[in-house]
Amino acid sequence: MSTEHHAIRLESLTKSYGKVAALDGVDLEVRTGELVTLVGPSGSGKSTILRLIAGLERPDGGGILVNGQDVGSLPPHRRAVAMVFQDYALYPHLTVRGNLLFGLRVRRVRRGEAEQRAQQAAERLGITDLLDRYPDQMSGGQRQRVALARALLREPRVYLFDEPMASLDAPLRFATRADLLALHRELGTATIYVTHDQAEAMTLGDRVAVLQAGQVRQVGSPQEVYDWPADTFVAGFLGSPPMNLVPGGGVLGGTAGVTLGVRPEDLALDPEGSLEATVEAVEALGSEAIVLTRCADGTRLVVRTGPRPDVRPRDRVRLRPDPSRIHRFDAVSGRRR
Ligand SMILES: Nc1ncnc2c1ncn2[C@@H]1O[C@H](COP(=O)(O)OP(=O)(O)OP(=O)(O)O)[C@@H](O)[C@H]1O
Ligand SMILES: [Mg+2]
Repeated sequence: MSTEHHAIRLESLTKSYGKVAALDGVDLEVRTGELVTLVGPSGSGKSTILRLIAGLERPDGGGILVNGQDVGSLPPHRRAVAMVFQDYALYPHLTVRGNLLFGLRVRRVRRGEAEQRAQQAAERLGITDLLDRYPDQMSGGQRQRVALARALLREPRVYLFDEPMASLDAPLRFATRADLLALHRELGTATIYVTHDQAEAMTLGDRVAVLQAGQVRQVGSPQEVYDWPADTFVAGFLGSPPMNLVPGGGVLGGTAGVTLGVRPEDLALDPEGSLEATVEAVEALGSEAIVLTRCADGTRLVVRTGPRPDVRPRDRVRLRPDPSRIHRFDAVSGRRR
């Protein structure tokens, strides 16, 4: 077993709610200074993992170590863990300033210093003009930024973010993401960041962990999980549009017992291509286009092209798959092989 010191180490975590197995044996390690993004469908157990690490709930089994210490029996406030929730839990009876100062007061930071630090955090997230408002006097995005500012002030060993930017608009999200990343590098804490946004998962994460039905399907660098998905679930989850998966191989080269996959960008429209197909639809997205095609045997293949492909629905086209980019999976287990 590795002796490397992990800021967060989850060992065979299990958690059920009645008959629902929310977590089914989760192992995950996050190094000091590392940011791991956690992705997976709704209900796959992402928030449950964070709540267990923060100590808001108890696991049924398994271990949670923070900086090598088993925190299983510690109350939340003794875990040096700061969590930003999916639904920003601000104190409704306190102003933004009060919300920011609350944690500092609890930790007995002197008043002058506390106010200075709160001011800095507020400036960082662009909420200085909101300091005297109450939570119910702000938009969802504004509340979310206050929750982020409050988490920055905790200076924890471990940060847990549960979709902290879900209600921010695109430009603000982009800016806040950059701020968060800079801050993460500066503080060198271990961070787990849950997101539904694939771009966010890929750009923020040193590694990406993909969760399905309470199990970690794969953990790896963003490029690794994208280029070498461990199974058909990961292949079909990451990427938008996701990988084309053909059970039995079909038009991609039939072989019994396998499912073959190819990403939309690894299929080209090419008159010399080996596959014949009919265009069903063309979606122009500005910087690129998605062409939906259908082969004679009924297989649908999605192709990613440049912004202005010269094709229309019902056109007969030929497709050229990049042979070095065909993925092979076991037809039964779905595992890469
Ligand atoms: N307090 C609870 N009581 C009963 N079931 C729960 C409770 N909390 C979570 N669950 C169930 O546990 C599973 C995992 O939930 P969790 O909130 O961790 O999912 P999630 O991955 O965060 O989903 P989302 O992306 O929708 O936030 C789901 O099936 C959910 O219905
Ligand atoms: Mg959740």
